[in-house]
Amino acid sequence: MARDLPRYTVPSLTPEDGAELAAILQGRLHALNDLALTLKHIHWNVVGPHFIAVHEMIDPQVDAVRAMVDAIAERIATLGVAPQGTPGALVKARTWNDYSIGRASTTAHLGALDEVYIGVITDHRKAAEAAEALDDVTNDLLIGHLHDLELFHWFVRAHLESAGGELSTAGASTERDAAAAADRADA
Ligand SMILES: [Fe+2]
Repeated sequence: MARDLPRYTVPSLTPEDGAELAAILQGRLHALNDLALTLKHIHWNVVGPHFIAVHEMIDPQVDAVRAMVDAIAERIATLGVAPQGTPGALVKARTWNDYSIGRASTTAHLGALDEVYIGVITDHRKAAEAAEALDDVTNDLLIGHLHDLELFHWFVRAHLESAGGELSTAGASTERDAAAAADRADA
């Protein structure tokens, strides 16, 4: 794909590599900005007996994801490209739908959040693999995020797991299906 080349980039990379890496990172910037907003939406909309545990579990995830967003945007700038951080640019570029659940039980939201994390982590791993061939530093940044994103995903899944190790959301492919499956298992 033809892109405007940066006037400068990180030493030892070509302008073409800088542009390619910035494009990879821009996709992750949108995805993690979306994730931080979605996590806050869940923080505000969970109800039920486990409200305070889930409400409070979410905020450290928001803080960590916002820090990832900042690091990604600053890496894009370091590569010589302008990061796009506005809501309009995010909505225009994204390939996924808005989070689909409003006020609902903690279990339903955790079921849906399992799906959200599957999508974000799958794409983050693809981005890390794509960056690996071009730049170890960008690859390392994305791998560092995956350590935390996968840990947070486990925190969510531990709520959906039986003593036998099965997930109530197994087989679901949409947020709504996962939320319904998690609620059924909790009933
Ligand atoms: Fe709050």
